Amino acid sequence: MAKRVFPLSKVYGLLEPGPVVLLTTAHKGKANIMTMSWHTMLEFEPPLVGCVVSNRDFSFDALKATRQCVLNIPTAAMAPTVVGCGNTSGRRVDKFESFGLTRVPASLVGAPLIAECYASLECRVADTRLMNRYNFFVLEVLKAWIDPACKDPCTLHHRGRGVFMVSGETIRLPSKMR
Ligand SMILES: Cc1cc2nc3c(=O)[nH]c(=O)nc-3n(C[C@H](O)[C@H](O)[C@H](O)COP(=O)(O)O)c2cc1C
Repeated sequence: MAKRVFPLSKVYGLLEPGPVVLLTTAHKGKANIMTMSWHTMLEFEPPLVGCVVSNRDFSFDALKATRQCVLNIPTAAMAPTVVGCGNTSGRRVDKFESFGLTRVPASLVGAPLIAECYASLECRVADTRLMNRYNFFVLEVLKAWIDPACKDPCTLHHRGRGVFMVSGETIRLPSKMR
């Protein structure tokens, strides 16, 4: 392959793992949603997820104060809502109202599940040691919910600046990775 130099500012779009998620929090009686694509698995069980939530986001203060959130996984059918939740702030907007999303009470955390998402992961903040330096939170998934009818979900994967890949064909190969 004939490669060319690529701008460092765009590297994140190459490694972006996805799927893009909608992170919900609830703080001081206000439930909020933010779009998030910078996350990574850290451990199988209990599942640990590292994620970057900028300290400029309203969600940062809620996550820091309550130490609880839900990671809701949307499908591509929700793409306009996903971008909308990333272009607006809960400081000014009730995103559940604005985007017509349905909140469902979680069983273990104060933040709500989003009914329209095919999976929702109730999480607690397990580690904030990298929070001040990188806005990096380690989340432990306490309870996971999934729509069993959604076998091969069509998820969104952010390549930067509003460009998304939509997951397609599923292939199955023998792999040592469980
Ligand atoms: C596709 C997409 C992915 C995003 N990923 C992240 C992310 O990983 N971390 C982050 O801090 N902000 C991310 N954002 C930006 C936040 O969603 C955005 O700043 C949002 O307005 C924050 O909402 P809040 O102020 O209600 O918390 C992303 C936005 C979009 C559109």
